[in-house]
Amino acid sequence: MSIQKFTEVIPKAELHVHIEGTFEPELMFEIASRNNISLQYNSVEDLKNAYNFTNLQSFLDIYYSGAKVLINEQDFYDLTLAYLEKAHSQNVLHTEIMFDPQTHTNRGVEFKTVISGITNAMKDAKSKLGITSNLIMCFLRHLSEADAIKTLKTALDYKDLIVAVGLDSSEKGHPPSKFKRVFEMALKEGFKTVAHAGEEGPAEYVWEALDLLKVSRIDHGNNSLDDDNLIQKLISHQIPLTVCPLSNLKLKVVTDLKMHPLKKMLDAGLLATVNSDDPAYFGGYVNENFLAVAEALKLTKGEIFILAVNSFKASFLDESSKQEMIEKVGKFFETVN
Ligand code: HPA
Ligand code: ZN
Repeated sequence: MSIQKFTEVIPKAELHVHIEGTFEPELMFEIASRNNISLQYNSVEDLKNAYNFTNLQSFLDIYYSGAKVLINEQDFYDLTLAYLEKAHSQNVLHTEIMFDPQTHTNRGVEFKTVISGITNAMKDAKSKLGITSNLIMCFLRHLSEADAIKTLKTALDYKDLIVAVGLDSSEKGHPPSKFKRVFEMALKEGFKTVAHAGEEGPAEYVWEALDLLKVSRIDHGNNSLDDDNLIQKLISHQIPLTVCPLSNLKLKVVTDLKMHPLKKMLDAGLLATVNSDDPAYFGGYVNENFLAVAEALKLTKGEIFILAVNSFKASFLDESSKQEMIEKVGKFFETVN
């Protein structure tokens, strides 16, 4: 079996994907039209041509503007189901989806509308396709901690639908320490915690995410490699990094995938995983990320296998489901090798 086919069919989990970042231009135009909203762009092609990012902020500006057409529960349902169907087609058995409630509630869409649309699609995808999923609620770090606390309080009515809270949006100048109290509150309520750190921000932000926000995993984490003590801590505690190669390339976190730190991370014994982040904006879903980085870094089938096992190890599945899925990966590896 070619390494390409092997990568495409190996069972895997995805742990870092923003549902608003799966909004394909075609669906965006369709939903805009049914909601009588006019987009700034005349065509799908025009919109795609605007996807030319120089850094994280230049992406976020377009990403938040695209999300404005999401108004009704059906919109969130359609968005989520489309992603889950795509993930299923790429042999993703389990996915942990992030959503940004403040992007919607701050323009008058009810929290309930957002979460009902997303979670109904998650339920339907499980019964129709067998794909399982968890939901992670992210706070926008460019907004205040008070706004995050308000969001957390609203979310308590839907506690059973959310596995973890996270932190995303503009990293530089908005360190994890800004959100210490809201994460303490979330931990007390029984949520797990994750945070984007070390994407554009320094290794120090990764330390803060670990020490102050008590995160179970780090989203991105690239800049952790600048700090030997931090690397040792991440290895010894096997704290997962949810790495997103095509995102890193498109947002100029790396200039060339050949320079991507993923292989270095694996060689060092870090628990790294491969994910798509915002696939509709960055040129590919999880398999395209695997394929691009495998080619650039000349990864072996053994390394792809480790990444697939890592994706389940690092997930928030219960131990028995984790073992079951890791066994599936193992069986697959045995049969094709
Ligand atoms: N970084 C920070 N915030 C985000 C990202 C990202 O890569 N994608 C969507 N929101
Ligand atoms: Zn992200």
